[in-house]
Amino acid sequence: MRGCLYGLGVGPGDPELLTLKALRLLKAAPVVAYFVARGKKGNAFGIIEGHLEPRQARLPLVYPVTTEALAPPLYYEQIIADFYDTAALAVAEHLDAGRDVAVICEGDPFFYGSYMYLHDRLATRYDTQVVPGVCSMLGSAAVLGAPLVYRNQSLSVLSGVLPEEELERRLAEAEAAVVMKLGRNFAKVRRVLEGLGLAGRALYVERATMANQRIVPLDQVDPMASPYFSMIVIPGERWQA
Ligand SMILES: C[S@@+](CC[C@H](N)C(=O)[O-])C[C@H]1O[C@@H](n2cnc3c(N)ncnc32)[C@H](O)[C@@H]1O
Repeated sequence: MRGCLYGLGVGPGDPELLTLKALRLLKAAPVVAYFVARGKKGNAFGIIEGHLEPRQARLPLVYPVTTEALAPPLYYEQIIADFYDTAALAVAEHLDAGRDVAVICEGDPFFYGSYMYLHDRLATRYDTQVVPGVCSMLGSAAVLGAPLVYRNQSLSVLSGVLPEEELERRLAEAEAAVVMKLGRNFAKVRRVLEGLGLAGRALYVERATMANQRIVPLDQVDPMASPYFSMIVIPGERWQA
């Protein structure tokens, strides 16, 4: 019998934000796979490694590149698509041998999680189960003490990668927003927020819920030092009940 593919959300960083269900399935899995940058341990792996036993095989899936800005003839989309094909084959090998594979994913697997690209390649051929995790957006709002949306407000989830004019258009219309994927996009995002008069409402956090979490006023963030694991939260206008 073939193994089952599990996509396990492991939360935004605090190991206590792992769900009971993810923990149970993780402990039962003979193979634990995780995406990781070359030479790094990986955030998701760091969250769960204390729960693993020696009998469980580790399958690191090492990204060949970590930036989308590559000079021709290197094209990020092609390199990363080939990488996910190869990663899916490595996972499928275990599934075909009857071993369940738990792919751990920082935050939630279906919220910008790399697990999605394995799921898209394998879910039609293998049994799969996805366990949601606490996503970074909610972990960030919690540690910032920032209620996100009151009453009938709508929330916009934006990527800092968006071009400046597009970011400006969407933020101008948003009642509440989170801007993810900051890093090298930080200066652009802050400029847009300042231009729209939203900087005073915007809250910034690095590595929310992790041991090295940092909350910094937006105007004091060094744009050259803003890490990938950071986020800006613009809470909805407070509604007095
Ligand atoms: C590829 S997405 C992964 C999202 C993840 N699957 C989730 O459910 O939150 C990476 C982006 O999530 C945000 N992020 C993830 N973890 C974070 C954390 N602990 N604190 C702040 N932002 C975080 C950052 O904006 C980062 O650029």
